[in-house]
Amino acid sequence: MATMFERYGGFATVSKVVMAFYDKALDSDVIGVYFENVEMPALIDHQTKFISQVMGGPASFSDDVLERVHAPLKINGAAFDEMLSVLQETLEDFDMAEPDINTILGELRARRSRVVHA
Ligand code: HEM
Repeated sequence: MATMFERYGGFATVSKVVMAFYDKALDSDVIGVYFENVEMPALIDHQTKFISQVMGGPASFSDDVLERVHAPLKINGAAFDEMLSVLQETLEDFDMAEPDINTILGELRARRSRVVHA
């Protein structure tokens, strides 16, 4: 069975999704501020890992790493929810099938306690 990552065209597609997600995230009143002092390459790296991993792609990272990276950022529940809705909007813009979008959002929701620390 092909992963979602393969079915949607691998890194070529993910990089387009990443750019679109990145624009929306920076524009957001709720989460834009978290990314203000983050280096651009780190941000793009973040988004690429973020999207590839949840599509079953190769760029994997452990829940412990997620915890360690986000703990100092003091991300609250509202910011987490906003991140998910920005991502949902982006995936819809790319005409992904609803069950696939739900799989991706479910993967992220399952890691909420690793990311939210405020
Ligand atoms: C389940 C949801 C999330 C996942 C899977 C995720 C994943 C990641 C990953 C893989 C990294 C890079 C780690 C590395 O350095 O290798 C990262 C960094 C980061 N994340 Fe997330 N993230 C999530 C949610 C969020 C949310 C909700 C915010 C803010 C609203 C956020 C803000 C950041 C920032 C600012 C960095 C960069 C930290 C730095 O480089 O100084 N993340 N995230």
